Amino acid sequence: MPNPGTGKALFANHCAGCHGGDLKGSEKGPPLLHKIYEPSHHADAAFQLAVANGVRAHHWKFGDMAPVKGVTPDDVAHVTAYVRAEQRKVGIQ
Ligand code: HEC
Repeated sequence: MPNPGTGKALFANHCAGCHGGDLKGSEKGPPLLHKIYEPSHHADAAFQLAVANGVRAHHWKFGDMAPVKGVTPDDVAHVTAYVRAEQRKVGIQ
């Protein structure tokens, strides 16, 4: 089962540098605590694709996201569970 606690640690290691330790973004990447990343607009599959293939800049001006190496699909499922849990806390669902 995807575990938000496991996801939090993985996020800190692999994603926080751009998406922010608190999921609120940084000068290198957008916040994931944002309405455009709600599940109906960016489903869990979008997280798998983003990490595996990277993301061409389309919503923001930060540039492209490169594929993230060393993160398995199971890891991404944990990270997604963490992001969803944090989103729900701020009413993004
Ligand atoms: C080097 C910086 C960087 C890192 C590291 C990074 N991202 Fe991103 N990410 C970005 C940027 C920039 C965008 C925004 C692209 C746009 O839409 O303009 C983005 C977009 C996304 C999106 C939205 C995809 C879409 O379809 O629009 C998801 C989901 C995402 N990142 C998840 C992750 C996860 C999970 C990790 C860690 C495993 C991660 N990112 C690591 C920079 C990064």
